[in-house]
Amino acid sequence: MATAGARVEGFPRGLTADSAIVRWVNEVAALTTPDAIYWCDGSKAEYDRLCQMLVDAGTFIRLNPKLRPDSFLARSDPSDVARVEDRTFICSANEEDAGPTNNWRDPVEMRKTLTGLFTGSMRGRTMYVIPFSMGPVGSPIGRLGIEITDSAYVVVNMRIMTRMGTAALDAILETGQFVPALHSVGAPLAPGEKDVVWPCDPDRKYIVHFPETREIWSYGSGYGGNALLGKKCYSLRIASVIARDEGWLAEHMMIIRVTSPDGRVKHMAGAFPSACGKTNLAMLEPTIPGWKVETIGDDICWMKFDADGRLHAINPEAGFFGVEPGTSMFTNANAMRTLRANCIHTNCGLTDDGDVWWEGMTKEPPAHLIDWQGQDWTPGCGRLAAHPNARFTAPATQNPAIAPDWEDPAGVPIDAIMFGGRRTGVVPLIREGFNWEHGVFLGSIQSSETTAAAIGAVGMLRFDPFAMLPFCGYNMADYWAHWLRVGASADPAKLPRIYYVNWFRRDAQGRFMWPGFGENSRVIEWIFGRCSGEDDAVETPIGLLPAPGALDTRGLDIDASDLAALLAVDSAAWLEETAAIEQHYAKFGSRLPAQLAASLAELKRQVATA
Ligand code: OXD
Ligand code: MN
Repeated sequence: MATAGARVEGFPRGLTADSAIVRWVNEVAALTTPDAIYWCDGSKAEYDRLCQMLVDAGTFIRLNPKLRPDSFLARSDPSDVARVEDRTFICSANEEDAGPTNNWRDPVEMRKTLTGLFTGSMRGRTMYVIPFSMGPVGSPIGRLGIEITDSAYVVVNMRIMTRMGTAALDAILETGQFVPALHSVGAPLAPGEKDVVWPCDPDRKYIVHFPETREIWSYGSGYGGNALLGKKCYSLRIASVIARDEGWLAEHMMIIRVTSPDGRVKHMAGAFPSACGKTNLAMLEPTIPGWKVETIGDDICWMKFDADGRLHAINPEAGFFGVEPGTSMFTNANAMRTLRANCIHTNCGLTDDGDVWWEGMTKEPPAHLIDWQGQDWTPGCGRLAAHPNARFTAPATQNPAIAPDWEDPAGVPIDAIMFGGRRTGVVPLIREGFNWEHGVFLGSIQSSETTAAAIGAVGMLRFDPFAMLPFCGYNMADYWAHWLRVGASADPAKLPRIYYVNWFRRDAQGRFMWPGFGENSRVIEWIFGRCSGEDDAVETPIGLLPAPGALDTRGLDIDASDLAALLAVDSAAWLEETAAIEQHYAKFGSRLPAQLAASLAELKRQVATA
């Protein structure tokens, strides 16, 4: 089937020219004028062919097959290294529906801008059509999409991160439903022009969501969540809107299964801002004897009520797109094992023997390597070997800690939900919300120091409610109201309990007071006990904290004074915190749910009189 003069390859059997998919593909082709249209089938042969094509083009470097079989390194343009929150837009008809935490643009105006940018944007390139499923194909919690992209790098990453290809297309044809997600790197080629290794538009990036029509348009970036549109754009920004309308939850959370030494099982979900240890927690190896943690997901969690009245969760993704710097056999051995083969590495160092390296991977750095910008690097040269947001793209099945039934289409019943962030002070190691409503309050006041996962200053304190600040597709206050509604509609005894953790407390010298990583299993154990009805908590104004001695610290080398500080409630500091929360809430005006304003007033009253 010829489309606007483009060569067509792989046109799927069973599709007809008048189907909604073909009409959309043809419209996009007429706008973007690619040389060819390629329909992806999602096969391994296709993946291998495209990876080899990327090697031939210089975008991929094949790593040493003896050290990392079937693995590749890509180096991006230095202007295109992370999510661009200030170039991410929510284009709802009314500005208030996007809310004060999103960049809003008028949808009509934005469509004009995008139509201009996409006109001819794929000239000289192949346009790939990627049918994909978020969640196991056919899961009642999963959903379908089609990404059109002019980046082969995106195609191969999507094959790791989603269930992509023929089975997803069949499901789309059966259900007639898909979210259209259009992506262009924004670097058309003139006839005969040689391509660069990382095409993008260094000056113009637009990551755009139309929540009402459930559409995604992304222009100018080839990196991560800007370009792999199933991830943040669909599974969070668009899905959060769909979830609001349909009564479920689309969340920036990891999911784990915890098994106690006596074989009891609980499932926990956890929302943490980007690069705050979510992947480490999802793959945690407990230090306390007899406990087991298995991964269901490391970044995104879709939860729906099942017939049993409980929230059941799936991980809509099929891979991990994890931060490399700091990942090591000491901090996350399961991640390192996951990376043994079949992975894509982006923006880390290349060692002289053809392996990858990043800061923190080994105690001793290599004597020489090629850094993420392609330059010679030696220890102490003053530059980083890996970009701080260097990432691996890895198949979830390769994680030795993956739960055997992680792809169960029915999902897993969630017992506990954790919130957390990087906080040097004030916020204790662990506390429990008094009930669902108070838990929603805890999520709404979640705050963290910023990281390299997004462009911008690192280490600045910001409120990041539910770790959804960059990912909520509508007014955050309405999102809180949705959470409150979900809780009010359920049997309280069947709702997950809600917790708030902080692994990142430091003392006056700047030293971490809690060892973190595998030792976080001690906090998990306390949560597990609480979910099993054990009554070992004390009530404080900020929530329920472990009773003295309830946190298992046997075998842990920790000062009694550090432990006391980690579990202390400093009323003066909390009073200051409430002033910051008031400012944070003020942004939402009359849309702030009354229950949250009441929780804040109560907290303030209690810490002011303590
Ligand atoms: C991610 C992020 O890539 O949150 O998961 O930035
Ligand atoms: Mn994330």
